[in-house]
Amino acid sequence: MDVITTVEGLRAARAGLGQLGLVPTMGYLHEGHLSLVRQARRECGAAAASIFVNPTQFGPSEDFTRYPRDLERDLRLLEAEGVALVFVPEVAEMYPEGFGTAVVLPAADEVLEGAARPDHFRGVATVVCKLLNIVQPTRAYFGQKDAQQTVVVRQMVRDLNMPTQIVVAPTVREADGLAMSSRNSYLTPEQRAAAPALYRALTAASGLLADGERRGDALRQAMAEVLAGEPLARPEYVSAADPLTLRELDAVGPRGALLSLAVRVGQVRLIDNLLVE
Ligand code: PAF
Repeated sequence: MDVITTVEGLRAARAGLGQLGLVPTMGYLHEGHLSLVRQARRECGAAAASIFVNPTQFGPSEDFTRYPRDLERDLRLLEAEGVALVFVPEVAEMYPEGFGTAVVLPAADEVLEGAARPDHFRGVATVVCKLLNIVQPTRAYFGQKDAQQTVVVRQMVRDLNMPTQIVVAPTVREADGLAMSSRNSYLTPEQRAAAPALYRALTAASGLLADGERRGDALRQAMAEVLAGEPLARPEYVSAADPLTLRELDAVGPRGALLSLAVRVGQVRLIDNLLVE
């Protein structure tokens, strides 16, 4: 497995490979990332991963400096999965002095995570654009857990005519339903016990939808009620939105609904979603 820190080195190593699947990550890997790596290898023959905690997608009061990092463990896990290339750039390699371009999707900043985290998607779109340009993968793999990120990346690739195919894989969950996330490592045992309330709220709403409830308000209310029953959970938003525009729904139509929520458990901000088609 080649571990490469420079754009130039990555380009040289990539040149020797044909079809390649890229899994962009911020490290501190879990089973969700590894399942994307396996899918990339299965579908493309060879897999690459990037590990880069991207400063530009964190707000000033967010957790950039304390975001969990364990490069040695990540590299061991990727090697065991038969990954061909790992790109591990320093911040100065990605954003050298004089760097001045951004990829902006203004509509993304108006709803859900974009509304809650100003400039987050500008940082995500810019770094994903750079990674796709640097690695030039055949396909790039993302988890459904970051639902709005997948919508943003797909739109960017479409709008900018980028040749990489974007693949979105289902969220990988713990046995009690909690979506896997590197940030789960922040949870105390008591908070960890409370965290499955997110998935319970989502399944309550998807159950209602399966029973024929179509009103967006009723679905949002069902999620809010479940969360209200968990004293450690402080919801930031609950949403039943159109899966493409991410606008809140009055009534669920033929495109289905993206049920999503952001909840603070203690200081830890967790997000999750279910795409109901
Ligand atoms: O989902 C993530 O880990 C990040 O947002 C990504 C796609 C690697 C960009 O930094």
